[in-house]
Amino acid sequence: MKLLKQAGLPEALSKTLNSIYDMVDLAQVSEEYISEIAESITMMVTNGEAVVTREFMLRFPSLKLIAVFGVGYDGIDITAANQLGITITNTPGVLTDDVADLALGLLIATRRQIVAAHKFIERGKWQTGSFSWTQKVTGAKLGIVGMGRIGQAIARRAAGFSMTISYYNRRPLPENDWIYQPDLQELARQNDILVIAIPGGKDTCGLINKPILDALGPKGILINVARGSVVNEQDLIDALQHGTIAGAGLDVFEFEPNVPYTLQQQPNVILTPHMASATWQTRAEMSRLVEENIAAWVRGNPLITPVNK
Ligand code: 8YV
Repeated sequence: MKLLKQAGLPEALSKTLNSIYDMVDLAQVSEEYISEIAESITMMVTNGEAVVTREFMLRFPSLKLIAVFGVGYDGIDITAANQLGITITNTPGVLTDDVADLALGLLIATRRQIVAAHKFIERGKWQTGSFSWTQKVTGAKLGIVGMGRIGQAIARRAAGFSMTISYYNRRPLPENDWIYQPDLQELARQNDILVIAIPGGKDTCGLINKPILDALGPKGILINVARGSVVNEQDLIDALQHGTIAGAGLDVFEFEPNVPYTLQQQPNVILTPHMASATWQTRAEMSRLVEENIAAWVRGNPLITPVNK
C-alpha cells in the first residue's frame, strides 16, 4: 500500500505522511521506478492546482483514493475517477475565511489604489503633487460570481461595508438579503465590483470574457480569488489596457506561475501569487484534514470531506 505524492505539499505535511505511510514522491524518483511500483500505489495526495488526467490514473491500476490539499479539484478528471472507482477528498471549509479575507483585501487595495499610492511615495512624487482621488468602498455595489461557502463569506464581510450585494449562481439561495441575478452580463452591468468565487473547470472556463468586461464598464473592477481559467486573460489585459474596466485584483492566473508581462505592467492591477489560503493557521488545518481523510480511508471509516461517492 503505497501513497504517491503527485504535487507540492507543505513540508510538515509531507513529513507526517512520509512517517506514517510508504510515500513515494513523484518529483524525486525516475519514470522507470514509478512504472515498477505502479501496481502497489493505492493512494495519491495532490494539491489544488495539480492536473490528474485519466491517463495518469490509468497508470496506477490499484489506485483507490486521491486526497486533494485544497478545496478546488478542477484539475482532476472526476468522470474518469468515478468510472475507475477512485474516491476523491478535498479540504473545504477550513480555508473559506482566508480566501474571503484576501478577496476583501484585494477589493479595497484595488479600489483605493493602495499599491499605486505606495509607489507614489516610493518614487518621491509626493514632493511635487498629490495622489489622485480614488473610488469609495463603503456603499459600493458588489456582484459575486459563485455563491458557495467562499462567495457567502465574501458577502458577509462586504455587508460590514454597507455594500449592496448581488450574486450569480446556479440557483438562488434561500433566506438572505442578497439579490439573485441569473444573467452574468446583467450582474456585471449593474455592479461596481465583480468578485469571482466560482469553481474552475470546463463549465466555467472563460466565463469572464470581453462582453462581461464591457458590461462591467470603465469604473468597474474585477477581483479573482477562484481560478485563473474562469477569466479569459487576454480579454482582461485588453480591457485593462483600453480602460474598458478600471482595474483588477488577481490572486489566480491562467498559466500559473506564469503571469503575462503585460499584465504585470498594468498600473491598475494588484497581483498576488495564489496565496489566498496560504496562512500558517489555515495551511495547518488543511494539512490536518488531508491526514484525517487518508487515515479514515485506510481504516475503512467514512471520509471526512469526500468529493465523490
Ligand atoms: C491552494 C487552492 O493554493 O484550495 C484551493 O483550491 O487553490 C488553494 O487553497 C492549493 O490547493 C495548494 O496547493
